[in-house]
Amino acid sequence: MRTHLTVLALVAICAPVEAQTPIRIVNVEARRTTSLNGKWRAIVDPYENGYYDFRLQPSKDGYFLDAKPKDKSDLVEYDFDTSGQLDVPGDWNTQRESLFFYEGTVWYRKTFDYPSRPGTRLFLYFGAANYEAMVYLNGEKLGSHTGGYTPFAFEITGKTREKGNSVVVKVDDKRHREDVPTVNTDWWNYGGLTRGVSLVEVPETFVEDYFVQLKKGSTDTIAGWVKLNGVRARQQVAIRIPEAGVSASVSTDANGYAALSIPAKLTLWSPENPKLYDVAIAAETDTVSERIGFRTIETKGTDILLNGKSVFLRGVSIHEEAPFRTGRAYSLEDARTLLGWAKEMGCNFVRLAHYPHNENMVREADRLGLMVWSETPVYWTILWENPETFANASNQLAESIARDKNRASIVLWSVANETPVGEARTAFLKKLAAQVRALDSTRLVTAALLHHNDGGAAEGTTDLLDDPLGADLDVLGCNEYLGWYDGLPDKADHIDYKTIYSKPLIMSEFGADALYGLHGDPLTRWSEEYQENVYRHQVGMLKRIPNLRGTSPWVLMDFRSPRRALADIQDFFNRKGLVSVRGDKKKAFYVMQEFYQAKQQEYQ
Ligand code: GCU
Repeated sequence: MRTHLTVLALVAICAPVEAQTPIRIVNVEARRTTSLNGKWRAIVDPYENGYYDFRLQPSKDGYFLDAKPKDKSDLVEYDFDTSGQLDVPGDWNTQRESLFFYEGTVWYRKTFDYPSRPGTRLFLYFGAANYEAMVYLNGEKLGSHTGGYTPFAFEITGKTREKGNSVVVKVDDKRHREDVPTVNTDWWNYGGLTRGVSLVEVPETFVEDYFVQLKKGSTDTIAGWVKLNGVRARQQVAIRIPEAGVSASVSTDANGYAALSIPAKLTLWSPENPKLYDVAIAAETDTVSERIGFRTIETKGTDILLNGKSVFLRGVSIHEEAPFRTGRAYSLEDARTLLGWAKEMGCNFVRLAHYPHNENMVREADRLGLMVWSETPVYWTILWENPETFANASNQLAESIARDKNRASIVLWSVANETPVGEARTAFLKKLAAQVRALDSTRLVTAALLHHNDGGAAEGTTDLLDDPLGADLDVLGCNEYLGWYDGLPDKADHIDYKTIYSKPLIMSEFGADALYGLHGDPLTRWSEEYQENVYRHQVGMLKRIPNLRGTSPWVLMDFRSPRRALADIQDFFNRKGLVSVRGDKKKAFYVMQEFYQAKQQEYQ
């Protein structure tokens, strides 16, 4: 017997530990967490010398071992403790001049002590890491994650020691054609551990996930499910909403799963009254509390109905660029500043482009009463026929729905932006649209499509939206740049928008570049007056579109882009912001404010 066990132990030690598939733990901020944010040691490794040997084979003694020379003669050619530091969360590009343009691998290392408590489990949680992350604990590979904008976690129960644990993360943001997004984007490829990292301690059997929203089309029945993770899968789970007098109980099955259907009398969430309830999901071994709003969102013909009432989505598009300091935004303060400016413009809606933004943004939108368009970074021309590209896009979509499905603010899941009409592309996106409906039937599916000029009778006066993908969408999004990439500002006066679908339309992008403080006549490009001129003509055209039910001009704030090299004007910023990075409002900001005041009246 003993020899058999020794053999087993030996096999266990020698055999490579199976990398885990990342787990999705929702609502981490309500769990027992230990933050690992702050200064991390970092080694910049352009040749991935810390991962590959000189034969480009994965090396057994890479930087992930966080090794130290055993004695004065021992050769170890790296040392995290004498290496520089980077802040986490944060992109590396805006932390060091030398990393501004850097795309490649950076090794991050953090040490921590953790006296583990009996009967608990421990997870290492990342809010996001751009683009590919390989995660190691005490020299052992836990797993990897691809995609820069969604959370992931690995279980480390039993893998920690009281003192001196070493987490090493290889983050690589090199761009590849098969990636999602692919090699060309009009935003900066900010690399690094761009969102928070924490240890999450949960009971042995814990509330892993739950979906608590109103049943589709109902204002008085909560529907959804709860999922436990652990050996005690079969439990009684109570769903409590004290303020609404709701206290229901369900029994989970052998997989820890139970569906929910709970009658409830609730004050519905809306931009005018963003009502959130304290909701407790209380199993016998674990309780998670949440703040959830309840509302219905649906379409009827060309109308979008919020809680059964037709609404106009007075919006603006936003990139996750930090106000004032620039770089990847991540904090609650960043969210409050950006969403505060949108509110000042009179918005009740924001399009978070072109990828899932940090959780602070969507939770703040819940609190502020801003409806949200959330998008998966299927942007421009990705490799539609590559199965890995599809699996990657599908996974990023699933991860963003998993994280945000309990947010009342999110009303639209967007599966793509400005993708070229074509068979493989449309098949790819139809599958993503179907995946959204399978994961969340309570919200609307959209995409930012492109139109084309139908070259009809009166040459060039009609722009047509007849993209075949439109058939699979609940709401049509359309990007157009009349007056900037397409003609001069007054061209919009001569264009009528037509769609072959009797569905609501959101003009998801329109606008023009202007450098704040640069002034000239209304036809001088880059001036505030030119941008204002474009917006004035846009508003005139938008008013003529019969099925227009929303707008999200491009873009709230100037943002960094490697495609914008015009010196002294762009300086690697896309200047289509209605406000500068310091929050200075450009003249066009007030054109939209005025338009939204009128729309608010109209939809009273
Ligand atoms: C596109 C695209 C944006 C881009 C914008 C622009 O429509 O969707 O990502 O930034 O146009 O050119 O400014």
